[in-house]
Amino acid sequence: MAFLSTLESWFDEHGRTLPWRGIDDPYRIWISEIILQQTRIEQGRDYYLRFVDAFPTVTALANASEEQVLRLWQGLGYYSRARNLHAAAQYIKDECNGVFPSSYNGILQLKGVGRYTAAAIASFAFRLPHPVIDGNVYRFISRLRGIATPIGTDSAYNEFEALLLKLIDHDRPDRFNAALMDFGALQCTPHPDCTACPFAGECAAYLTDRVESFPVKALKAKPKDRWFYYLDLRWQGKRIMQLRTNKDIWRGLWEFPLLETDHEITDIDELTARAHRFVEETFDIPPLPFHLSHPYIHQLTHRTIHALFLQADLLDKPAVLPENARLADAGEIKKLPVSRLIDKYLQEV
Ligand code: ADE
Repeated sequence: MAFLSTLESWFDEHGRTLPWRGIDDPYRIWISEIILQQTRIEQGRDYYLRFVDAFPTVTALANASEEQVLRLWQGLGYYSRARNLHAAAQYIKDECNGVFPSSYNGILQLKGVGRYTAAAIASFAFRLPHPVIDGNVYRFISRLRGIATPIGTDSAYNEFEALLLKLIDHDRPDRFNAALMDFGALQCTPHPDCTACPFAGECAAYLTDRVESFPVKALKAKPKDRWFYYLDLRWQGKRIMQLRTNKDIWRGLWEFPLLETDHEITDIDELTARAHRFVEETFDIPPLPFHLSHPYIHQLTHRTIHALFLQADLLDKPAVLPENARLADAGEIKKLPVSRLIDKYLQEV
């Protein structure tokens, strides 16, 4: 078929060499795909290599502690990915005799694995003909065929999957999917050079001068604002650290005691008065005067976190520490998994 041979000759010439290519270990392919879900290749490569070095098998990952796993994930963001990996590894160890599932539907059962990731693992590890459809593939195929369906919905996925099932190379679905990904990432970029494209002569978007109009994206909700006032409380070289346990962002990561509000507190006197009250109520001791950090703005996909750190020495060792809180010295803090926001602050002070 013309599409296949054009795509595969382009891939022979331009395809990338990557550490998770040319292997068929489903465990390693899974790790790479989960990392690459929200991380760029350049950054993801190092994390991938460190991760599979620390946990070379699914059983090794299952036997690790959540803290070890999150610690290796630190800086990548979207920590539910790491927690899901850990839970899925335990499921494979306990429920599947430690053997990675080898069918598309079996792979889809794993926590944190959606249709895209299941297709990637099924095709790369087991050569099953399931096309991968990520942002790059949506861009390439929507332009090629002039498809104006807003992408990223279940129905768009169904439409593109049906189309790609007619094009996929049944002998080498692994090679086909890698070629599709690389073509979208390297040639059919957001602002492409179409003069170098082997599909220019048949590309619906190019032929009608609408390349930049594809893919059509669904309207996004505006991120919600949250205001975090962190209390960096020190006593004899140690600081109070606290584990996030709620069903919320950053669960399983450590941070400082937190005063959160649904609006900004602009009046410094009001802020420090509230912080004072919070410390007295929570730890039963008064803090010395607060020193305020500069404001930090931390952007997550659906949230904008506005953070301020209030530093204070404590007059006494805290009489009570809430559950999940502890006094930690610098060496201990270095070993705790923390969010990128907390890491940035710790680097700066
Ligand atoms: N992005 C997501 N998965 C990928 C893979 N396997 N190779 C290259 N880029 C990717």
